[in-house]
Amino acid sequence: MYTRKSVSQDVDQIVQIHCDAFKDFFLTSLGAEFLKFYYSSFIKNKETVCMVEVENDAIIGFSAATVKSRGFNTRLIKSNLYDFFVWSLRMLFVNPKALMRLAKNLTKKSNVIEDKEDYAELFSIAVSSNHQNKGVGKKLLKETECELKMKDVQNISLTTDYYNNEATVAFYKTMGYDVLYDFVSYPSRRMYRFIKEL
Ligand SMILES: CC(C)(COP(=O)(O)OP(=O)(O)OC[C@H]1O[C@@H](n2cnc3c(N)ncnc32)[C@H](O)[C@@H]1OP(=O)(O)O)[C@@H](O)C(=O)NCCC(=O)NCCS
Repeated sequence: MYTRKSVSQDVDQIVQIHCDAFKDFFLTSLGAEFLKFYYSSFIKNKETVCMVEVENDAIIGFSAATVKSRGFNTRLIKSNLYDFFVWSLRMLFVNPKALMRLAKNLTKKSNVIEDKEDYAELFSIAVSSNHQNKGVGKKLLKETECELKMKDVQNISLTTDYYNNEATVAFYKTMGYDVLYDFVSYPSRRMYRFIKEL
């Protein structure tokens, strides 16, 4: 088993793991085509760190992070403007509510506590369900943090669900993450924002 940086050819396996690990999540509900577009954009982007864990030539886990959280989603869209426009136009007719939710969650932060978003952000980490709880996620997160540190990142943050999410919250706490605050993302999803100094 080894960790390496992800490449465009990994996208189909990454999307499979995403769908397996994030079954009832909003992003998953947008469909495999959107996820392929999303993760391809992530891997191509120069300010991201995307890693995969490989066992017997198959990907069993992945992570996707950016070195600079503030304004990242907007920059990601701008760097793929045409594809995003075409996809949005279709969503406008097929599922306008989902498009609205995506737009409202471009930034996920508290509107009560001041947050300058001066940190790297882990947007996604997942291990395929038959490989979970065997140390893969810890290894992947450590390698991702190392890559970010080599890019002079000092703090890393992430958001995760507040309710019914004890195992994942325990996972991040074990990895040295502390709660920065909690907040409600659109329309009514309560979330934690975690932070860790690297
Ligand atoms: C979260 C996730 C990436 C963790 O990866 P993993 O390979 O399963 O986790 P690991 O085996 O490396 O580490 C598990 C650690 O988490 C903690 N943990 C997990 N479940 C726990 C629980 N129920 N209670 C307390 N601690 C728990 C423990 O510290 C454990 O470490 P230990 O085995 O040394 O005690 C993985 O479970 C996953 O893909 N989950 C679904 C997707 C997801 O929720 N991603 C995060 C989105 S924010």
